[in-house]
Amino acid sequence: MNTSLPDTPLLEVENLSTTFMTPRGPLTAVNGVNLTLQKGQTYGLVGESGSGKTVFSRSMLQLNVSSNVQTTGSVKFQGEELLTKTRKEMQSIWGKEISMVFQDPMTSLNPVMKVGTQVIEHIRHHLGLGKKEARELGIELLRSVQIPEPEARMDVYPHECSGGMRQRICIAIALACGSKLLIADEPTTALDVTVQHQILNLLDFQRRDRDMSMVLVTHDLGVIAGRADHVAVMYAGRLVEVADTKTLFAAPKMPYTEALLRSIPRMDQPAHTRLLSISGRPPDLANPPKGCAFAPRCAYAQEQCENEQPPITTHADGSQSACWIPLGTPASRDALQKNLSAGRPQTLAMHNVASTTSEVK
Ligand SMILES: Nc1ncnc2c1ncn2[C@@H]1O[C@H](COP(=O)(O)OP(=O)(O)O)[C@@H](O)[C@H]1O
Ligand SMILES: [Mg+2]
Repeated sequence: MNTSLPDTPLLEVENLSTTFMTPRGPLTAVNGVNLTLQKGQTYGLVGESGSGKTVFSRSMLQLNVSSNVQTTGSVKFQGEELLTKTRKEMQSIWGKEISMVFQDPMTSLNPVMKVGTQVIEHIRHHLGLGKKEARELGIELLRSVQIPEPEARMDVYPHECSGGMRQRICIAIALACGSKLLIADEPTTALDVTVQHQILNLLDFQRRDRDMSMVLVTHDLGVIAGRADHVAVMYAGRLVEVADTKTLFAAPKMPYTEALLRSIPRMDQPAHTRLLSISGRPPDLANPPKGCAFAPRCAYAQEQCENEQPPITTHADGSQSACWIPLGTPASRDALQKNLSAGRPQTLAMHNVASTTSEVK
């Protein structure tokens, strides 16, 4: 008889919410998020700027430290609750079990310390190695992230390196202690396009090579394609669609996801296809709308959308979305038609582009 327990997920987030007390009242930046990440998988977390991706990533690790913030819910890492751990207990998890790479490498690097000193200190702190061994491992790590002449690079300051090089150094530090999970928060947003690809490929290679799992946070769905197993789309602090990447790209259910997809260039579209920038602005989180937060910008929105918060529902293909009128249904086609006939501005804006694709007639 097989008595082994089913595999515990590497990361299990349940009903995670984070609220800031601001002078304008409470601002819920992360609202009831659930997410499960299995060992070895990559999760893409996508959403426009201000949707709550960074607050979410930091909340999981108790990195939102200020007196005006409250996080509730549960974050289990290898079955162990993180949110009840003390700061001291978290110090043995940060950088060792779970590492982070941020958008701006300079937030992680100390500008007045040589690169080598920073790499060596990190290794010594977490792995307790001697100076010589730590230096050797540091050089090896810089080499593994394809930094040329790593010995010489140990003796320079961060400002003497290019942006891409600095991000490679941060990745080397993140990889130093054999973390099981890497949270990469917009790791390439501050870099040139060609360097972006190199860094994303490097992260992907290292993740596979070291059997790590990754949460790849980005505002750009194009970054996720081909790199994540699953995608979670965040809007106004909530997950509005969660699906395996293939399903999400082939059959999005939430109009916000569709709009994000239309805002990335695709090889399989005619060259003249117009890219959609989503009109309107995300809601004020200190004063959120009553119904679906995307309704004021949505081409398909009906009365119910404006008034009632849609629950997350699971579809036949396994994807989940929070939408009263999921795409691909007759109701969604009717809603679009109705809004077009009524000349609803956001629907017309989307229809200009929608008419160049086949599924909306
Ligand atoms: N320290 C803070 N105090 C108050 N509001 C904050 C704080 N940090 C972030 N926010 C708000 O939380 C929301 C989500 O921010 P963030 O997670 O940085 O978005 P993203 O990473 O998706 O661009 C934003 O509306 C932002 O203004
Ligand atoms: Mg962010």
